[in-house]
Amino acid sequence: MTDLEVALEDMLAVERFDPPAEFTRRRSVEADLAAANADSEQFWADAARDLLTWEKPFTQVLDDSNPPFYTWFADGELNLSANCLDRHVAAGRGDRVAFHWRGEEGERRDVSYAQLLADTERLANGLRGLGVVAGDVVGIFLPMIPEVAAAMLACARIGAVHNVVFGGFAPSAVRERMEVSEAKVLITVDGARRKGRRAEVKAAVDAELGDLPALAHIVVVRGPGEHPGEVPMTPGRDIWYDELLAAADPHCPAVSLPAEHPLFILYSSGSTAKPKGILHTTAGYLLGATYTHRMVFDLDADTDVYWCSADVGWITGHSYIVYGPLSNGATSVMYEGAPDYPDRDIWWQLIEEYKVTVFYTAPTAIRTCIKWGPEYPGRHDLSSLRVLGTVGEPINPKAWLWYHLVIGGGRCPIVDTWWQTETGSVLISPLAGVTTTKPGSATRALPGISPALLGEDGAPVTEGTGILVITRPWPSMLRTLYKDDKRFVETYFSRFGPTTYVVGDAARLDADGYFWIIGRIDDVINVSGHRLSTAEVESAIVAHEAVAEAAVVAEPDEQTGQAIVAFVTLAGDRVGDASVEAELRDHVARRIGKLARPRRIIWADDLPKTRSGKIMRRLLRDVAAGRELGDVTTLRDPAVMAVIADRVRGARDDEE
Ligand code: PRX
Repeated sequence: MTDLEVALEDMLAVERFDPPAEFTRRRSVEADLAAANADSEQFWADAARDLLTWEKPFTQVLDDSNPPFYTWFADGELNLSANCLDRHVAAGRGDRVAFHWRGEEGERRDVSYAQLLADTERLANGLRGLGVVAGDVVGIFLPMIPEVAAAMLACARIGAVHNVVFGGFAPSAVRERMEVSEAKVLITVDGARRKGRRAEVKAAVDAELGDLPALAHIVVVRGPGEHPGEVPMTPGRDIWYDELLAAADPHCPAVSLPAEHPLFILYSSGSTAKPKGILHTTAGYLLGATYTHRMVFDLDADTDVYWCSADVGWITGHSYIVYGPLSNGATSVMYEGAPDYPDRDIWWQLIEEYKVTVFYTAPTAIRTCIKWGPEYPGRHDLSSLRVLGTVGEPINPKAWLWYHLVIGGGRCPIVDTWWQTETGSVLISPLAGVTTTKPGSATRALPGISPALLGEDGAPVTEGTGILVITRPWPSMLRTLYKDDKRFVETYFSRFGPTTYVVGDAARLDADGYFWIIGRIDDVINVSGHRLSTAEVESAIVAHEAVAEAAVVAEPDEQTGQAIVAFVTLAGDRVGDASVEAELRDHVARRIGKLARPRRIIWADDLPKTRSGKIMRRLLRDVAAGRELGDVTTLRDPAVMAVIADRVRGARDDEE
């Protein structure tokens, strides 16, 4: 065993880590906790006055007269981009770097608050010139470049509703999201690069979205790097981003908007094939992002250099790359590329170079780094780090300890932040330097948040496992599913009534009142911290002409947390072989995106079905997880499962 392995083994016995003395000496959140416990509405009202700049002060706080349709600060007005930009520039901090951007090929660009404001104002005017008015939806499909922040902020400045799609999704997924939200404008890029390869994004977007009736204009950013070849531009519809900015009036006063004005839609996977358009509104969302970013990470905007390695296309990027950090006036690193390009030490090189103090990433990334070995972080001086965070999935204690020792040098508190696209901001998490942590536990609720565990019957669970719910509204909660109030109520507020938000996760509460998130209890798979719906992947697979039927479940995976296994019955006399398998994986990548490709495809002559013809996914989940099979007697043909179990074993043996 290496010294590190010995140290990790020894530490596995350590159950709790107290906050380091240098934090506890100067940091206390007792006052917040006491205020929130005494009166959470008053607590949020005070925080909203303290942290946000209002054009018109609010007099109402929470309106809970029509649950689950809550409103916060509804008679107040403000502008989110003014909170993220103008107020910092006005306070003399215009030269402060908002983003240290680093391109995949090593390019550097430092974007100041003043520069970001200037770009945002011009783009906001440019969008207006294209006919965008408050309430219109603007799609954003961009890689990790500073323009993505300007695009979001420009929408917020004029009250347009942004709908960002993760750059790794396939253009057909972009089409679906633009079509259902009736986006009027799409802001995209000519081409994107990944590990030295280039994808012609604009051409692909044209092929998929060219005929969408509501989509009047496509704004095209010239992405970083070489630009070989022609980019197709349709006159009258398409316009280059830089030309739009150059022609626009530089001055665009921020529009004063009601607190509940819609800010963005972000599509997320649910238990049906149709993604859910999660809708967030202005003030409550910004309050959640601002407060938690400051409190959870112990942020000091004057001295910290913060880096969240997520993509802006996910909620983590919305709240903790763009809105939280900018509202707090922080300096962040924004990195375009992959963690292993040009080499596996690029993240650690960036931390050393920019003297990053607060680093926020996903457990799956940490597990990948563990696999690569400690020599990569070992090449760099990581002593600037003082707080580490994780998000997206449960972190296993071993990965937590490795992060703590190898990246944090044993001195940085780790905040394991639990939250969701729907919650808008972190709800359960340690506060860096305040909370005693336990590896693998997201610990306790933040001030003003009321989580609880319920049994199947709705009875409260005070210790043990249960269904995680939130019993009181909080400012940054989703307001509805875009144009689908019915699905909103059904999905989150039907099981235990209209005032109890059902998260979709199971969790355990220990004797100290600490939460341990177990995972999803619906048909959602969490691959590397990314949410995917089994139904969405199934419907992509069955859309292939060779397929008759498919069922998708998760299997545990050391690195990605969960991986996708697809059980597939082929049509006619097609035989499942390597070429059909490759074709199917490719097909899913084209329809959804690469991350939805099944890790394993098991050919089945039939799927396990009840007598009424319903596929019993529970049995497939058992077999994929290597568990004893449950009761098979309700199956129409019990022999089917034996064949499938055999094939799964065979596939595993082949792998080893
Ligand atoms: O299952 C939980 C898991 O991710 C789900 C939310 O996914 P999404 O909306 O894509 O947002 C991810 C980033 C906030 C949750 O229902 N999850 C998120 N954070 C954690 C987690 N599971 C365990 N521990 C976490 N810290």
